[in-house]
Amino acid sequence: MHLTREEEKLYAGEYGEALETCMNLLVSLGDIYGAEKLVDISSAQVSGVSYKTIGEKGLEFLKDLADQGLKASVPTTLNPAGMDLRRYDELKFPKDFAKKQLEIIDCFKRMEIEISCTCTPYLTGNVPMFGSHVAWAESSAVAYVNSVIGARTNREGGPSALAAAIIGKTPCYGYHLDENRLPTQVFEVDMELEDASSFYGILGRITGKIVKNGIPYFKFKNCESIKNDYLKALGAALAASGGVALYHVEGITPEAKKGLEITGLEKVVIGKDDFEKEYDSFKTSEKPDLICIGCPHCSLDEIKEVAEFVKSENAKFNAEVWVCTSIHMKSIADRMGYTKIIEDAGGKVVVDTCMVVAPIEEMGYKNVATNSGKAATYLPGFCKSNVIYGTTYEILKKATE
Ligand code: F3S
Repeated sequence: MHLTREEEKLYAGEYGEALETCMNLLVSLGDIYGAEKLVDISSAQVSGVSYKTIGEKGLEFLKDLADQGLKASVPTTLNPAGMDLRRYDELKFPKDFAKKQLEIIDCFKRMEIEISCTCTPYLTGNVPMFGSHVAWAESSAVAYVNSVIGARTNREGGPSALAAAIIGKTPCYGYHLDENRLPTQVFEVDMELEDASSFYGILGRITGKIVKNGIPYFKFKNCESIKNDYLKALGAALAASGGVALYHVEGITPEAKKGLEITGLEKVVIGKDDFEKEYDSFKTSEKPDLICIGCPHCSLDEIKEVAEFVKSENAKFNAEVWVCTSIHMKSIADRMGYTKIIEDAGGKVVVDTCMVVAPIEEMGYKNVATNSGKAATYLPGFCKSNVIYGTTYEILKKATE
């Protein structure tokens, strides 16, 4: 891989061992994947934040980097942590877990990484330009930034995103290159689209399993009504079930709008039967003990939808309800009065974390209701939970029964 003189110096350890380690990681990755050079990034998004996912070894690694005085050199935001950083006691997070989680957060703070703790950084100020290079790690955020914004990132791991944040560069291979951003399979959705993010979660699960690490190109019948929230749900489910980091939607996403060649690609038609089969896989008689909205983290509109449910149904929740979002969205929801409406009904607007990266199994939750295709994919393995799947309305309704 070609390195500039400055990069050579970093690589040779002339600026210290810590920066050398970061450069080494980036150069090794570049060598493995055949990158010709490093490319400047405009932002980074770092994963590996929850103590549940990184454990003691991860914490030691972060402490070591922070102790050496390493700092992010480009705007860098953080993925969700394992708990709400302010209300962890009230929400009954285990005390030992909370202590470790706060130590992790302290390391990132010392590295001058924004303690945003969200998987929707594109809703909270980390918004790259079309075509710009970034190094993002969280799979749903990667799918969104590549597909809906048209910026360019590989699906980074926690350490490589952190190294990129510190050096300000990433190896130029994979999704950074034009030739690797072309569709590999066409999916024609032969039915009216439903006005619910759970529909897009199911679509993502079905097509992700077929396209497996490829780049799906969607053709929808009536796509004028697609909201950004639905694209966020689609990408998250695609990433979880098929490792998808980039997708295109005809007439909607920026690269598809510019025109992409799809002649000669295999075409798969997805219809009502496919949806029914996928929905059937969630049929269960279990009653949820935790109802979660907000995977990926809720937009303001999605929080408003929960508040409107409470108002129109005059609801009182009998089960634990978490509306997971970023601290940024919650502060606007507070001002709009949505938080008060939800919390007066017994729900909680939870920030900084989500049902997957929080230690919900340790907290005793076994049956989790979700409207997210991504959460539905991860909850059984990662949290040992049964999944109850439905629209926002359907799962909230269960919390009132
Ligand atoms: Fe975000 Fe957690 Fe879902 S990190 S995408 S809310 S699994």
